[in-house]
Formats: sequence, C-alpha cells, structure tokens
Amino acid sequence: MSMLNKAMDFIKMYYAENDLPEEQMNQRLGEVEQQITEHGHYTHTTDELAYGARVAWRNSNKCIGRLFWQSLQVKDQRVIIDEEIIYEKLLEHIDFATNDGKIRPTISIFEPKKVRIWNHQLIRYAGYEQEDGSVIGDPDSLAFTKQCIELGWQGNGGQFDVLPLVIQIEDHPPRFFDIPQEYIKEVPLRHPEFDWFADLHMKWYAVPMISSMKLEVGGITYAAAPFNGWYMGTEIGARNLADEYRYNMLPIVAERMGLNTTSNSSLWRDRALVELNVAVLFSFKEDGVSIVDHHTAAQQFKRFEVNEASADRDVTGNWTWLIPPLSPAATHIFHKQYDNTKKSPEYSYQKSPY
Ligand code: ARG
Repeated sequence: MSMLNKAMDFIKMYYAENDLPEEQMNQRLGEVEQQITEHGHYTHTTDELAYGARVAWRNSNKCIGRLFWQSLQVKDQRVIIDEEIIYEKLLEHIDFATNDGKIRPTISIFEPKKVRIWNHQLIRYAGYEQEDGSVIGDPDSLAFTKQCIELGWQGNGGQFDVLPLVIQIEDHPPRFFDIPQEYIKEVPLRHPEFDWFADLHMKWYAVPMISSMKLEVGGITYAAAPFNGWYMGTEIGARNLADEYRYNMLPIVAERMGLNTTSNSSLWRDRALVELNVAVLFSFKEDGVSIVDHHTAAQQFKRFEVNEASADRDVTGNWTWLIPPLSPAATHIFHKQYDNTKKSPEYSYQKSPY
C-alpha cells in the first residue's frame, strides 16, 4: 500500500473512532494528500500521533497487557534532533514512567527518520564474555555491550551493570551517555518464606522500556519511539533470570531449596521456578513497584477481549507469546485460538543499527 493510502486509512480511522465531525475529516484528508503529493510525506498532529501510538499498542499481538492501551502517555519529542537533548528527554521518560514505582505506561516519539536509539531497552544489564566462554551479566546483551565498549564505555564487569544510552543522529557516529544512578529503580529479590533467598543477590530493574522497535502510523515510520508498560512477573522470574541462556538461576535456587537436581522427575526446575516467581512478585509488591502476576494479567486480557468485541473490533493475537511461560493452561488464553493478522498502526522489529 502507498503512503497516501495508508495515511488516508489512518486519518479516517482516527476521525471515526474519536467521533469527530466529517467536514473536519475531509479537510484534513485534503491537507494530508497535498502534503504527500508535494513532499512525499506528511506530519501528524500531536493528537493523531498519540492516538496512533495507543492503537499500535491495542494491535500488539504479542502483548497480554493491552487492556490499558488508552492510558498510554505520549510525549511528542519530534522537534529534537540533538544527542544531548535526546539524552535529557530519555532521562525524563525514565523518571516519568518510573514515577517512584507507580509505573506509568509511556512512549516518547522522536523525529521519524533522523534519530536512532541503539539500546534494546533504555535500562538493561550488560553481558561480558569471559575467557572460558562463560558470561557475566545478561548474555542477551553481549553484542550491544561490545558496541558500547568499542565506543569507549567502561563496564564494571559485574552481573547487573546498567548499560549506557546510545543515541545516533542520521549518519553521525553514535554517542553514549551514562544513566545517573538516581534514575535507575531496581528491586532486590527476597522470598516471603526462604530467608536464604536474599543471599543470592538477585535483582531486576523496575521498568521495561523497549527502545529498539519502530512505530508505524498511517504510513510514517518512527524509528525512535521508546515505550514502556510494567512487568508481568514471569518475564523476570520465568525468563530473564531462569532461561539457561539468560541468568540461568534455577539450578542455584533448586540446590538452596534442597531439591534433587539429579532427577528430572523430582520436578526441581518447576518447583524452583514457582519460588523464584513468588520472590519476584513479593519483592516488587513490597517495594511498591507496579507488577502484575500472570493470572491477573490473563483476566485483564479477557476484559480487553470483551471490550474489543463490544466496540465491534476483532482481537488479533500471537498465541505463542500471549500464553504465560508459567502454568499457561491455568489461563483461558491457552484454551483458545488467536488470529495473528497484523494491523496498522503497529510496533514492529527493525534492522539493528550495529
Ligand atoms: N520481556 C522483556 C523483559 O523481560 C520486556 C518486554 C516488555 N514487557 C512489558 N511488560 N511491557 O525485559
């Protein structure tokens, strides 16, 4: 589809869903058409952009948290094309979204073509490969950590070193900026019954802020549009800290629990997983940091499905992502099918800049 067609579809959807008058719509359609024929692109109003970003969340087939799509806070940062000011705006995003633990779903949208953020998430832990091939920190960050070091960043070589923000304008060399400690909210993990759990010194950061995906709205692609919600506990407890190719903590937790790790059928992995996830939810809640367990998230997703049906819209979804990695069959999602057709506006992956 051409940009013009995508733009027309989007503008029509925006006016229809927001119950705006038809004459205004026709005027805007004319304006947009003129901009596209004259310049090959057009500029969204701040309201169109905010609506587009929210609907893109509503259309995120992999996301179980879509009930809250209308609450997304949108920061229009399109006028800024200076690395240092973008850095400041990213710190503002982190601070606003973190909100001392009462996390606010937020997106900052930068100039569509000229800005690129190299990070996968605004806050994420570095990963360092050791001589023997093992990894300290998050193995998923190995390639990006190498890039940061090449740019001149010096990591501490620890398990939980927060990576710098790496910002690139057009084809200039990327620049890196450290995130001041006071912006980084983290939750040390402890367990409501196992006192030894805290001695494992596990922690995770409070807010997942995806910064590597692009946002497409009405034919315009925003390459730098970092967004966040709050965590579902399993993302941390059943994946980031549990996957063998991530922090791989299950053997250590199981051993401290006194389980028989020589027998698969002792279900030591499953039992360790549950307790690790209990610790994640317990610690975040005790620290007043927003988080949702997978049962509640599935119930919220059910409400989203009901809402969408009453608005006469189909819910698309990617079943393989929607089911939680822990006790999937205990949620309704497991027991039905989802159509994974993509809709616009949408968030999607884009080619890595490095
Ligand atoms: N799964 C990713 C992580 O563990 C975060 C993805 C976005 N998650 C979210 N709850 N909005 O870091």
